[in-house]
Amino acid sequence: MNSLSQSPTHEPVCDTALHDDVQISIQGIQKRYGRVLALDDIFIDVQRGEFLTLLGPSGSGKTTLLMILAGFSIPSAGRLTSAGKDFTQRPAEKRNFGMVFQGYALFPHMSVAENIAFPLRIRGVTAARRRQRVEHMLETVGLSEHAHKKPHTLSGGQQQRVALARALVFEPEMLLLDEPFSALDKNLRGQLQEEMKRIHQEMGTTFVFVTHDQSEALALSSRIAIFNQGRLAQLDTPERLYTRPHDRFVAEFLGRMNLLPLSQPERSGQRVSGLFEDTLLTATNLRHIPHNNLMLGVRPEQLNIALSYNEAAREGFNCLATTLKERTYQGHSLDLTLTTPQGHILTTSVTNAHPAAQARKGSPLWLYWPVDDGIVIEA
Ligand SMILES: Nc1ncnc2c1ncn2[C@@H]1O[C@H](COP(=O)(O)OP(=O)(O)OP(=O)(O)O)[C@@H](O)[C@H]1O
Ligand SMILES: [Mg+2]
Repeated sequence: MNSLSQSPTHEPVCDTALHDDVQISIQGIQKRYGRVLALDDIFIDVQRGEFLTLLGPSGSGKTTLLMILAGFSIPSAGRLTSAGKDFTQRPAEKRNFGMVFQGYALFPHMSVAENIAFPLRIRGVTAARRRQRVEHMLETVGLSEHAHKKPHTLSGGQQQRVALARALVFEPEMLLLDEPFSALDKNLRGQLQEEMKRIHQEMGTTFVFVTHDQSEALALSSRIAIFNQGRLAQLDTPERLYTRPHDRFVAEFLGRMNLLPLSQPERSGQRVSGLFEDTLLTATNLRHIPHNNLMLGVRPEQLNIALSYNEAAREGFNCLATTLKERTYQGHSLDLTLTTPQGHILTTSVTNAHPAAQARKGSPLWLYWPVDDGIVIEA
């Protein structure tokens, strides 16, 4: 085995593009507000037709980046290019991007149809063509019967659909959305997510979507850019972000992750073995993280549970002794909280039919999982 410190290092935070048709290139964008560095050296190639989601905690810089893309804010450093041309200073009205914001106000004195027609009117589109486009958009967002109503007579979800139609009616090159559904209740939100996914597929427009709802991001996006304190933590497909997070922040931000500190780590090919408490555990080390400050990350759903050591000790699996600390009934399943001999907490869940579902608090339970299901993460 090699020592970890000799292993090669560093992959970029950005995954290579899904396909190579870059529509907009965000190059080293930085935004300062006095002492606050709202964005720090952001590089993203936005692919034509993709559904790119900017995801991150409150204050991580998502809206700031969207405002810069929209042309409402000028970056402190870096540039935006399209087909090799710099458009960093181009005013918003010359960018041909559609926009939908949280609680975006519709014109109250105009009907739904007039609201949707507005961007066409200011672009000098003929009345006949306007009518045609508005009808098409009303149909797309499912509001044909509401064309003549005033916005205040519509529900919140219907109003957001009008805003979506108005942002798409002039066939923008890109649609920018900042938490458009955050004021809506959960069911309506889910319904609008489905509709937005369909509209994106039908129209083929590039969507750049801001949210801090991780399940929304996983369900909708072709790629997700995760922001942490103004920095791009990782840009990847939802699946790769979930299964191969680059660091602890991404691992814990997207779904639940059990993290076990590994001491005296040793590398062997694409794997790392190390001691967790007194147990030798092995995990995949695809990124060849060279540091010694390592953790093994394993998702709750990757853990198998056995009532005996003999059942859990298998070739090619990690095996860990725990004690059942807490069980929480979830209807279709049970959430289990387990503790290791030195008091480290892990979580997993089992179906009601699983033998471990009957275990009492304080019972010994063995966790086992294929060594390649676990990943090495920088602590
Ligand atoms: N106009 C401004 N003046 C000063 N500071 C600002 C301004 N706009 C944003 N900031 C700061 O920049 C940082 C990023 O803010 P931003 O609005 O981009 O976050 P966000 O990721 O959109 O958060 P949220 O999820 O809460 O909307 C924050 O620290 C914020 O306080
Ligand atoms: Mg925001």
